[in-house]
Amino acid sequence: MPAPVTILGLESSCDDTAAAVLRDTGGKVALLSSLVSGQTDLHAAYGGVVPEIAARAHAERLDLMVEQAIAQAGIGLRDIDAIAVTAGPGLIGGVLSGVMCAKGLALGLGVPLIGVNHLAGHALTPRLTDGVAFPYLMLLVSGGHCQFLRVGGEDAFTRLGGTIDDAPGEAFDKVAKLLGLPQPGGPSVERAALSGDPARFALPRPLLDRDGCDMSFSGLKTAVLRARDTLVAAQGGLSEQDRADLCASFQAALRDVLAEKSRRALAGQGDLTGFAVAGGVAANRTLRTALEKVAGAAGLPFLAPPLALCTDNAAMIAWAGLEAFRKGRRDGMDLAARPRWPLDNRSPSLIGSGRKGAKA
Ligand code: KG4
Ligand code: ZN
Repeated sequence: MPAPVTILGLESSCDDTAAAVLRDTGGKVALLSSLVSGQTDLHAAYGGVVPEIAARAHAERLDLMVEQAIAQAGIGLRDIDAIAVTAGPGLIGGVLSGVMCAKGLALGLGVPLIGVNHLAGHALTPRLTDGVAFPYLMLLVSGGHCQFLRVGGEDAFTRLGGTIDDAPGEAFDKVAKLLGLPQPGGPSVERAALSGDPARFALPRPLLDRDGCDMSFSGLKTAVLRARDTLVAAQGGLSEQDRADLCASFQAALRDVLAEKSRRALAGQGDLTGFAVAGGVAANRTLRTALEKVAGAAGLPFLAPPLALCTDNAAMIAWAGLEAFRKGRRDGMDLAARPRWPLDNRSPSLIGSGRKGAKA
């Protein structure tokens, strides 16, 4: 039986500072602790994440998060066998803070350092939570990412398609903003949509008529803006019902696009073991139900990790680090922090920079 391995994971690529401890005892993996310190309050006044404020907060909080994660795991620093850290993609100041902290710890403790791709962390999470075997399809939908990945191995990702502009979470947040609903927009739009009529506004389903799995959400958001302005011009304002109907119509359009593109992504792959989702938007009930149906129709299990492991966290980084560690991968002190780091180099990124920074 291989010796037990205890890994400390660090995540600081956007606006969450996170640390987690994972222990592998001969193939039996236990998540000993997973802590996340969000920064929503620090950025609230600016309507988006301010990279400099985020980087400073990460630098200030990382030590404390490490201390707390270790204490909660009931271990000491000396029990750690390796340090896994997000080395990109993300806001460079935050990624640098994490990488420098990890290098210091690895050097001080004399243990290996493993740089992890943040997206690989999300993509490999269903293996931690559900023990799913390769290959499976992953739909990553968050405030910063939106892509279909065929996950064929711990370092074998094929990007089948993704958004060419906004990520769905970004669209949710912008729609909330233009309807005067609180941030983060996803939960407030979902709540408002509960009492809305999804058929009242005929919003576009962008790129649905185009082959493949690429998506676009910025036109959908603009269509909501236009519908709002038309109502305001005609009535002088928005009623609660107008807001609810706009939210429901927007959510239905997004659902239709994601469900149909998921169906196409699955249809192109014959040998999958499951269909998995990750990212904050995967919390949306309407979306989850639709995607679960798509998986069912393809005869595949639907894998949706618990929300705390769907959104940004360090357990996924520790897990991806463990998968790399098992394969013998180690990084040196020259490990670089990367603002961009596509998982699939053969598939050039179509995506620009958004609210949450560079998207791979
Ligand atoms: O994965 P995440 O926590 O952070 C990154 O973007 O990396 O995702 C946050 C995004 C936000 O845009 C938020 O509005 C969206 O996920 N979100 C939701 C829901 N809960 C969070 N979107 C739709 N429905 C929800 N229930
Ligand atoms: Zn993320």
